[in-house]
Amino acid sequence: MPRPPWLAALIAALVAAPVAACSLGADVPMDGTGPIYFADGHDTSRGSQIRRLVEEWNRRHPGERVEHVELAESTTDVRAQMMTHAQDAASVDASAALGPVCYDVITVDVVWTAEFARWGHILPLDEDDVDHDAFLRKPIDSGRYGGRLYAVPLRADVGLLYYRKDALGTAPVPRTWEQLRNQARTIAPAHNLQGYVTQLDRYEGFTVNVMESIWDTGGTILGADGEVTGSREGIARGFGRLVQGVREGWIPAKTTDFNEEGTRSEFQDGRALFMRNWTYAYELLSAENSYVAGKFDVARLPTPSALGGWNLAISKCSQHRATALRFLRYLSSEESERVLFSGAGFAPSRKALYEDPALQAAHPHLRIIRDAIEDSRNRGPSPYYHRVSGVFQSNLHDALIRPTDLGPRLDDLTTELHHAAEGR
Ligand code: GLC
Repeated sequence: MPRPPWLAALIAALVAAPVAACSLGADVPMDGTGPIYFADGHDTSRGSQIRRLVEEWNRRHPGERVEHVELAESTTDVRAQMMTHAQDAASVDASAALGPVCYDVITVDVVWTAEFARWGHILPLDEDDVDHDAFLRKPIDSGRYGGRLYAVPLRADVGLLYYRKDALGTAPVPRTWEQLRNQARTIAPAHNLQGYVTQLDRYEGFTVNVMESIWDTGGTILGADGEVTGSREGIARGFGRLVQGVREGWIPAKTTDFNEEGTRSEFQDGRALFMRNWTYAYELLSAENSYVAGKFDVARLPTPSALGGWNLAISKCSQHRATALRFLRYLSSEESERVLFSGAGFAPSRKALYEDPALQAAHPHLRIIRDAIEDSRNRGPSPYYHRVSGVFQSNLHDALIRPTDLGPRLDDLTTELHHAAEGR
């Protein structure tokens, strides 16, 4: 039955209500200039390239100084810090004496962008301010919510398989999970190495690994509108493979405490044959102090990869929005992305850099990154994504080491997943 117009209007008003409640600062002019704060996760890039780009901006724009605030390392912690800060900033008048400073420009993980937009913490951008077509499609689309553009990719990201080419020798690089498992169980011990290390600590990285395994076994999780499409069986199948890997030992149990950096150290110090990690690891592994420099290479993951990456957005609380926009454009410019890729290995989001002959020659894995990004999958275009991810973490993480009671956990997970995706 079609809804009467008054009901449609009431629903629209209720849906918009939380956004309106957070709209302190909606009447701030867009042309304000002056010092701003820029909040990002901890700069783990080789040579602290983000910090250097901010310093360069400050040299060029002394009247519009940017204060760089480095938050936590894990994306889950960064989200929590940014969300709390945005809520605090939204609840007081910007001129309040003891109010929190405004993080004018923030770098939001692709998976949290919808949430920050939905709750009105970031401003929609004027499409004319962004050269949309210059970006790879998936990364720029990850900055959209409700048909509007809220964020511009600073760096794209995708999972890669890092492997020890010295140990693999003439064996083919694994292209399926089964090949990965076989080589991790046979070749790794012959070289006194652990098989496969990846991010299985209890945070977003865990959810990424579980999702990739579910996708690889034919399952799904969320649909294009953030609705649950996954089934208990599909989740059990995908997660079961990780449990099996830990039980068989080729995925070392200590991996259940690893985030990206823990995983990287393990591989970089020469203790593992295979590693799943994001693009940033490449440059660090190639550095002089790395045991595996010259001994490793990268390939596509043997499973589908989640689309990763970080987007730049302007906070609703910003009083110096013209400076914020200029800084956002500077950081996401071709010039900055070139520095970030050649210095730190962060995957560019701009198409032109993938076509650059000098970059292609110096970084032969550029083509692999682009193909992997183009085939990557969106974890969940939903403002409730963090709840969905939390359901995976709370129900499944400790089952990796104690899998005996998996049945009831999967039942709970399936119910909670529907609640989480609906924002209940
Ligand atoms: C990387 C990715 C990000 C992902 C995170 C998971 O930072 O770029 O998208 O959510 O890892 O730990």
